[in-house]
Amino acid sequence: MDVSTEKIFTQFKEHSVAEFFKKNRQMLGFSGKVRSLTTIIHEYVTNSLDACEEGGIFPEITVEVKEIEEDKYWVRSSDNGPGIPQKHIGKALGMMLAGTKFHRYVQQRGQQGIGASGSTMFAQITTGKPIKFDSYYDKKRVHGELSVDFQKNEPLMRNAVVEETDGSRHGLIVEGEFAEVKYDRSSFSVYEYIKRTALVNPHAAITLIEPTGEKITFPRSVDMLPPKPREIRPHPLGITTNDLMEFIRSDKESRKIGSSLQNIFSRMSAGKVAELAALCPGVDFERAPKDLQWADAEKIVKAIHSGKDKISWIAPETDAIVPIGKDQVEKSMRSILAPEFMAITERKPKIYKGGVPFVVEAALAWGGNCGRPVADGHNSDIMRFANRAPLLFDAGGCAITEAIKSVEWKRYGIRDFENEKITVLVNLSSVHVPYTGAGKQAVATEEEVVDEVKMAVMEAARDLQRYLHGMTRERVRVERKKAIMRYLKQLSADLAELAGGKAKAADLEKKLLHLIETKYAGKIEEDESGDANIEEEISAEEEKVDE
Ligand SMILES: Nc1ncnc2c1ncn2[C@@H]1O[C@H](COP(=O)(O)OP(=O)(O)OP(=O)(O)O)[C@@H](O)[C@H]1O
Ligand SMILES: [Mg+2]
Repeated sequence: MDVSTEKIFTQFKEHSVAEFFKKNRQMLGFSGKVRSLTTIIHEYVTNSLDACEEGGIFPEITVEVKEIEEDKYWVRSSDNGPGIPQKHIGKALGMMLAGTKFHRYVQQRGQQGIGASGSTMFAQITTGKPIKFDSYYDKKRVHGELSVDFQKNEPLMRNAVVEETDGSRHGLIVEGEFAEVKYDRSSFSVYEYIKRTALVNPHAAITLIEPTGEKITFPRSVDMLPPKPREIRPHPLGITTNDLMEFIRSDKESRKIGSSLQNIFSRMSAGKVAELAALCPGVDFERAPKDLQWADAEKIVKAIHSGKDKISWIAPETDAIVPIGKDQVEKSMRSILAPEFMAITERKPKIYKGGVPFVVEAALAWGGNCGRPVADGHNSDIMRFANRAPLLFDAGGCAITEAIKSVEWKRYGIRDFENEKITVLVNLSSVHVPYTGAGKQAVATEEEVVDEVKMAVMEAARDLQRYLHGMTRERVRVERKKAIMRYLKQLSADLAELAGGKAKAADLEKKLLHLIETKYAGKIEEDESGDANIEEEISAEEEKVDE
């Protein structure tokens, strides 16, 4: 060794989370010009929707984008939410890992406390300028400029002014200049993002003003706000020993491990604690929470997961998770895709690791304007959403994509899924979506999540299969009718000859035609009797698909 260890360690330094993300901005979704702009809008719009939801307000959001020069744009996002109080606005928009969501078990689009400050950071590092904010709340208005002190991860506020108002206005306006970005209408663009947001948030009115000056309005199309998701406690199923240790040891309210379990978890009654105690001989549930040892926590977690025959758990509260809902998904998809067929499924709440409940809903639309048009036909289209926020990027590593691709589509009458006029929509709702990264664009391939997505899609695919099967049946029927009709004249003439003048060919033709029309009339559903030959032909067709 030609250098002392002490000397090497003269380089040792600490860094703030803001410095980390400044250096690794791609982790927040700031990579590529189009994606970076979509990321900025994604962060502002999800915040506006969350804030309105929390305030019980029908969201009215306007996003405006103007080109300043090549690859440099001015962005303004405004909402009619509750606004942010003066005391918190600096940290909310200018400090990483700060906000009202990270620490709570409540279904919201944001969950980290990085989105808004990440956008402030991006304005700063690409244009050197702070962002401007204007917040109307209670009977006040606070406006000023903000940037991030990267070294300290603290907000730097400038020219802040607080004014009294008559209280008639509420909401937040953020505007800034951003470079290394680009506006277009591609499938990864702000335009597509807003369109998809409007699709699954019909209770919101969203306006996009494009750099060309074109104003695109997505009006509110429902008169009811989605139910407010209830803030819950974690469910015992799915928790790990480490989770349990952290939860219980940080419980300052309870005096005993037993009561702490009840305090921390949902669905944990005194009876359940007694059942657990019986399954954990040697673990003292009367001890103080701070004295819980790893080995004891391990035993408790093992008992929690010991199976239905030993201990059964009530499913998580359904009002904690608010999916979009079948009617709404159907209405929205019909309006944009005009499909020939649609099937929608909504699964029951399930739990994934950490005791986190989630719900998967899936819609499958076929025909009409489904899929994505390409030069030589159509590609299938997968629309991914998490808590009603569109996921446009990182499709490859996403549990939703993986689950959909793993479905054996041929079994459902879809020969070539990739090139079919089909759109699959999946929305994952949860109090904590397991994103693969801070950019929140792909869902981690947690086994439980992948399974649920697959089940939801397969359930919808079964309905599609029935529809396609019916269509095949109809086609076979029409073809057979056509074939018989081709011989009708000849057959009538031959029969008349055989009858030796007892019947006229024209009369026979009429009668035969009536017979054929009766046998092959109407929709297949009306014909309950079935036709063994037709069924055979359909099976043969479907076998061809399987080959
Ligand atoms: N439009 C808004 N109206 C009211 N409050 C807002 C608004 N935008 C942001 N906030 C507040 O600022 C906080 C920080 O926002 P930020 O986007 O950084 O984090 P987040 O939404 O909590 O999580 P995520 O990083 O996942 O987006 C939010 O938690 C919220 O309290
Ligand atoms: Mg956010």
